[in-house]
Amino acid sequence: MERACYYFPVGLLLATSLLAVGTGDIITDKSALVTLRDHMVSNRHLILAKSWSISSFVCDWIGVTCDSSRQRVVALNISNMGFAGTIPPQLGNLSFLVSLDMSNNNFHGHLPEGMSHLRRLSFMALSNNNLTGEIPPWLGVLDRLQCLSLTENIFFGDLPANICGNLPNLKELDLSSNQLSGQILSDLSNCSGLKSLDLSFNQFNGYIPKAVGNLKMLEELHLGDNKLEGPIPNEIGNLLKLEILDLGWNSLSGSIPVAIFNMSTLRELDLLGNHLSGVLPSNMCHGLHNLEEIDLSLNNFSGAIPATISNCSKLTGIFLGGNKFSGPIPNSIGNLRRLEFLSLSGNNLTSESSSPELGLFTSLTGCISLRYISVGDNPLNGVLPRSIGNLSISVELLDVGNSGLRGNIPDSIGNLSNLVFLGLRDNSWTGSIPTSIWGLQKLQYLNLINISLTGPLARGLCGLQSLEYLYLSQNQISGSIPGCFNNLTSLKHLNIAFNRLTFTLPMSLWDLKGLVYVNLSSNFLRGPLAPEMGQLKNLTRLDLSNNQFSGKIPSTIWSLESLDHLSLSNNSLRGPIPDSL
Ligand SMILES: *[C@@H]1O[C@H](CO)[C@@H](O)[C@H](O)[C@H]1NC(C)=O
Ligand SMILES: *[C@@H]1O[C@H](CO)[C@@H](O)[C@H](O)[C@H]1NC(C)=O
Ligand SMILES: *[C@@H]1O[C@H](CO)[C@@H](O)[C@H](O)[C@H]1NC(C)=O
Ligand SMILES: *[C@@H]1O[C@H](CO)[C@@H](O)[C@H](O)[C@H]1NC(C)=O
Ligand SMILES: *[C@@H]1O[C@H](CO)[C@@H](O)[C@H](O)[C@H]1NC(C)=O
Ligand SMILES: *[C@@H]1O[C@H](CO)[C@@H](O)[C@H](O)[C@H]1NC(C)=O
Ligand SMILES: *[C@@H]1O[C@H](CO)[C@@H](O)[C@H](O)[C@H]1NC(C)=O
Ligand SMILES: *[C@@H]1O[C@H](CO)[C@@H](O)[C@H](O)[C@H]1NC(C)=O
Ligand SMILES: *[C@@H]1O[C@H](CO)[C@@H](O)[C@H](O)[C@H]1NC(C)=O
Ligand SMILES: *[C@@H]1O[C@H](CO)[C@@H](O)[C@H](O)[C@H]1NC(C)=O
Ligand SMILES: *[C@@H]1O[C@H](CO)[C@@H](O)[C@H](O)[C@H]1NC(C)=O
Ligand SMILES: *[C@@H]1O[C@H](CO)[C@@H](O)[C@H](O)[C@H]1NC(C)=O
Repeated sequence: MERACYYFPVGLLLATSLLAVGTGDIITDKSALVTLRDHMVSNRHLILAKSWSISSFVCDWIGVTCDSSRQRVVALNISNMGFAGTIPPQLGNLSFLVSLDMSNNNFHGHLPEGMSHLRRLSFMALSNNNLTGEIPPWLGVLDRLQCLSLTENIFFGDLPANICGNLPNLKELDLSSNQLSGQILSDLSNCSGLKSLDLSFNQFNGYIPKAVGNLKMLEELHLGDNKLEGPIPNEIGNLLKLEILDLGWNSLSGSIPVAIFNMSTLRELDLLGNHLSGVLPSNMCHGLHNLEEIDLSLNNFSGAIPATISNCSKLTGIFLGGNKFSGPIPNSIGNLRRLEFLSLSGNNLTSESSSPELGLFTSLTGCISLRYISVGDNPLNGVLPRSIGNLSISVELLDVGNSGLRGNIPDSIGNLSNLVFLGLRDNSWTGSIPTSIWGLQKLQYLNLINISLTGPLARGLCGLQSLEYLYLSQNQISGSIPGCFNNLTSLKHLNIAFNRLTFTLPMSLWDLKGLVYVNLSSNFLRGPLAPEMGQLKNLTRLDLSNNQFSGKIPSTIWSLESLDHLSLSNNSLRGPIPDSL
């Protein structure tokens, strides 16, 4: 769950909240809360029915805080209590209310205009409900608001023209995860006190206004997951306190303004999933002393990854996959002691040295916190060094698929005992799979597609008890599927298509009731199909085509309700096929 209103000093505000006189009294407050209670419809409201009883003192009710002299209600916090219902206008009678937290419930309907009477309100969190309507313009009269979070509701329409017009104290505005649309305001001048602006996960379109550069106090700017287009304005470089810039999943184009590489406060730069292009400056880290995460994945960036990237010494995540980067992957990345995620797959990257042994992996042993290494789908063209076994024990994911690798898979790979994901597909390995791999007890995903495997399936596979995804297609595996496959009790996806498997299927295969996807097509498997296959109630896809199965199609197969793809073609199977299909 998103934290709401990080900047809000609730305690301090409550302590100084009784400086002015207001309307009504504690009796008014009580009747407003009773009305709210009576608007709740879920059975959870029984909590309130009990605590919020007419006979007890309102300041003792659950979620209610009064000022120190217990004369007025200053805070209401009923977050995360499973309440449903609408918000009554009478809530606006809590005229001394400073803090209102009704987040993480199931309130629906509109924000009642009566709430515009909450003139002392500094903090308002209604996040994660089902509230709807346009963002009401009367919010502008709540001129003490410091924090407003309406995230995760179903508000729609344009932003009110003067959203900050009368909210000079607003520090945090979170309208993310709604259905807001239209352009982001070009006049943001009165939002100049904002420290955090989050408009992500909406339908905003048009350009990012240059005026965003006037929000000089901004520490976080989240505009991701919208329909924004055009360039990233240079003016963002004027935000001298910015720590997080999130513009991912839009349709932005052009290059990254150079000024952004000068932002020494920046910790996270997230531009993934746009149409951005251009090259990274050779001194890209000259000004980015605090950068922890850079995500430029799925764009059109090109040119080299500068060796100086290692000068951003606080980097924990480098995500550059799915671009057109070319040239060598700099070995200097190995100097990034804090690096956890290295994702470079799907580029045109090569290796730095001319020796066949890929020095990159030896360098990466310097990254003592490394968890993800994804460098597949690049022309690395070389040999994995034995030192791969000296990578940090923290490595969980290693993807070197389709990267022109040859030679042996070093048996030292078995030293990476925390591996969960291992992708070796589409390479020209010689020799067999090292048996040390069968000792990787945490492995959940193993991809050995198209690597010229020959001979029978290693029984060692059956020791991988955490395995959920096993891909072995397009090899020359012969012999039978071992009976011990029923040891793979976590298996969900099994693909051994396009091999030379023979014999009948072991009955034990149908014990794997978690199977969702099975593809054994294009082998030489034979014999009858067992009725027990009808036990695989979670199966959505079954392809047994292009084999030599014979006999009657078991009728149990037609009771597999999840199945949405079934192929039995090119066998010697007989019906009947039920009419009800
Ligand atoms: C409301 O209560 C929840 C749970 O006790 C707490 O996490 C949250 O910080 C409170 N809200 C405010 C504004 O104090
Ligand atoms: C409370 O609020 C309602 C609706 O906003 C209003 O009609 C009513 O007069 C208020 N009651 C008091 C006691 O202020
Ligand atoms: C909103 O309503 C929908 C359907 O009416 C429901 O599935 C969803 O759980 C609700 N969400 C919240 C946060 O109350
Ligand atoms: C900005 O605030 C000033 C002073 O409160 C006000 O006069 C002006 O109209 C506001 N601008 C907008 C665009 O709301
Ligand atoms: C980056 O900062 C340096 C000095 O801090 C300044 O000289 C240079 O003009 C800045 N470059 C950009 C593109 O803002
Ligand atoms: C990258 O550029 C090419 C050619 O200019 C274009 O066809 C492609 O759609 C672009 N891809 C992205 C992700 O912007
Ligand atoms: C920056 O990176 C380059 C290449 O790795 C290195 O030679 C240089 O010493 C680094 N400079 C600083 C200040 O760390
Ligand atoms: C990949 O990079 C090489 C140079 O390293 C270049 O010759 C080639 O054209 C690039 N390929 C693509 C598809 O960009
Ligand atoms: C792995 O690390 C050990 C200890 O640091 C070292 O002795 C050994 O030579 C390394 N192995 C390889 C293949 O680099
Ligand atoms: C690494 O693997 C090799 C070969 O599998 C083995 O001899 C060695 O003991 C392992 N080293 C560690 C530290 O596990
Ligand atoms: C199957 O699993 C059992 C433990 O559940 C284990 O003892 C046995 O060695 C496994 N069989 C194979 C062939 O790995
Ligand atoms: C079948 O799928 C359901 C829903 O994903 C899951 O809860 C259940 O554990 C699965 N059954 C087996 C035997 O894995």
